[in-house]
Amino acid sequence: MDQTITILGIESSCDDSAAAVVRREGDARHILSSVVLGQTDLHAQFGGVVPEIAARAHTEKLDHVIEHALTEARVKLTDLDAVAVTAGPGLIGGVMSGVMYAKAIAVGAQLPLIGVNHLAGHALTPRLTDALPYPYLLLLVSGGHCQFLIVQGCDAFDRLGGTIDDSPGEAFDKTARLIGLPQPGGPEVERVAEGADPDRFKFPRPLLDRPGCDMSFSGLKTAVLRARDDCVAANDGLTQQDQADLAAGFQAAVRDVLAEKSRRAIETYLAMKPVKPSFAVAGGVAANMTIRAELECVSANSGVGFTAPPLALCTDNAAMIAWAGLEQFEAGKRDGLDLSPLPRWPLDHRQAPMLGSGRKGAKA
Ligand code: KG4
Ligand code: ZN
Repeated sequence: MDQTITILGIESSCDDSAAAVVRREGDARHILSSVVLGQTDLHAQFGGVVPEIAARAHTEKLDHVIEHALTEARVKLTDLDAVAVTAGPGLIGGVMSGVMYAKAIAVGAQLPLIGVNHLAGHALTPRLTDALPYPYLLLLVSGGHCQFLIVQGCDAFDRLGGTIDDSPGEAFDKTARLIGLPQPGGPEVERVAEGADPDRFKFPRPLLDRPGCDMSFSGLKTAVLRARDDCVAANDGLTQQDQADLAAGFQAAVRDVLAEKSRRAIETYLAMKPVKPSFAVAGGVAANMTIRAELECVSANSGVGFTAPPLALCTDNAAMIAWAGLEQFEAGKRDGLDLSPLPRWPLDHRQAPMLGSGRKGAKA
């Protein structure tokens, strides 16, 4: 295909207001701009994302972020082929803000509108960054989700398993809170864990004794709470060494669970005899270097290629939404002005939703 397609993407499903312009020219993919405006400061005093504050901030900032993305890409609205926007799952107020902006642009500039599933954005990122051919196996591991998917096409996902309670991102954030680190917890836990002893505390590796790819992380967080309380009781407070060893022990437990379950998911995927077997990881927790390195090892041992997007494309961004929109645009998808924001939106329509619901909304 030699046609050039240029898409504006908008993302506002959690606490990042983001806009990006992505272009495909034949086989080449270009991120012409990717602007992300976080809200960490606004939520800091509450210890987590406050949905109402997030929604208001998106409403105030999105027009500026979108304008910035267009300017940086040196693209006018008339150069675009379509507008893609996250229409769910996520915090409903934020998703509504993005969808309203996208509709306004679509009407004003007479552009097609495409509602994108946020999870499809993460799941298709390896196609934007590495042009991975279908079908590939994906571990989507973020603040609100954790699932193994066989990605068959831009709107065809088969779930092999996932978390039955917390997502690893949630567990990282809760662990950070328990040991006195700021939010978002993942990067902080990773930072203090460096050089610490991952074996001092014996944390569980939940559900490894059960077959299959389902996972559980809520018990791990409770184990961290108990170990922290023991440290506090012993020393009348948490020492820096305690904090670092707790972080390292927790991170190692998450790493081991994700590694073993990935090994099993790869086995199932290989049974499909894909021509060019590939395992990819995406979502915020994929930014964790210890976890990435372990998954790379598992892939190498299983004889499959491994892809992990650059860090800025692991955490929430709008380039992934623009890309997913671009693939769906090419497949003929168009939404009307009746496009509704969806707080829940499972990727795999054929399976029942996973159990539980998390801080960042329902697990699809
Ligand atoms: O994909 P994402 O930006 O948002 C959702 O769609 O949920 O993921 C955010 C999550 C947060 O829980 C954050 O703590 C976690 O990803 N995270 C990390 C790292 N960077 C972000 N977790 C572990 N290590 C990291 N370096
Ligand atoms: Zn996300």
